[in-house]
Amino acid sequence: MITIHSIEEIRLYVEQAKQRGETIGFVPTMGFLHEGHGSLIDHARGDHQQVIVSIFVNPLQFGPNEDFDRYPRDLPKDQAFCEARGVDVIFAPSAKVMYGEEGALTRIHVDALGDHLCGASRPGHFDGVATVVAKLFNIVQPHRAYFGKKDFQQLSIVKRLVKDLSIPVEIIGVDIVREADGLAKSSRNAYLTPEDRTVAPELQQTLKRIQAKVAEGASDLDQLMEAERSRLASFERIRIDYLTCVDLLQLQPIHKLDVGEEGVCAIAAFVGNTRLIDNILLTR
Ligand code: PAF
Repeated sequence: MITIHSIEEIRLYVEQAKQRGETIGFVPTMGFLHEGHGSLIDHARGDHQQVIVSIFVNPLQFGPNEDFDRYPRDLPKDQAFCEARGVDVIFAPSAKVMYGEEGALTRIHVDALGDHLCGASRPGHFDGVATVVAKLFNIVQPHRAYFGKKDFQQLSIVKRLVKDLSIPVEIIGVDIVREADGLAKSSRNAYLTPEDRTVAPELQQTLKRIQAKVAEGASDLDQLMEAERSRLASFERIRIDYLTCVDLLQLQPIHKLDVGEEGVCAIAAFVGNTRLIDNILLTR
């Protein structure tokens, strides 16, 4: 496995691999890799001769008061993780390599899909994501790219971006990987104090209860969510940002689910000072 830091070098590597008839699976990440990323890498490894993982903590997707500076970083540990997982190349550019001394003036905005849910509490976040993902696709030019379903809004935005801009890459969504107690794996779990960690699985428990009630025949989603909001309010360390049910295509709020319909129930909540997200598929 090699680590490449420059755009010219990764382009050359990919060009040569493609000349040999090899296909490229790409896993974009911000590093501090965990089993969730491991699962993305495994899917890419199973599908392609070449697996490229990018590690870049993208400043464009962090708001002024967010955790860009303290976002966990550990390149040597990530390199060992990738090596053990059979990755061929890590692409780890600096911000200067990606955006130059003067920074980028261009932003990609995917209308409608990015303004609510996480977009409402993180203004500009998805423009930063869409911009860096489009740029990474331009640089790496992979056949397929792998994204976790935990960030289901990000996944929808990336799918739409690729469709609207005719970027020739297939987007693969990969199932959420969880700890034994159900907490979705996330690099930000590293921020949780032991007390936070004890209550953090409540997020998935909330979603599972709603999912089970819908599967049993409950159709009034607002009522189900209201009951769960009251329940979560009893946890001192948990503060809900949103608990919402949305449709799978436009991610617009839904209030009822008829038999045969599907939706997603999504939650974002602060557990202590750490903002976590999770979601679950609803089927009636
Ligand atoms: O999901 C992430 O880690 C990031 O948002 C991504 C897709 C690597 C873009 O910076």
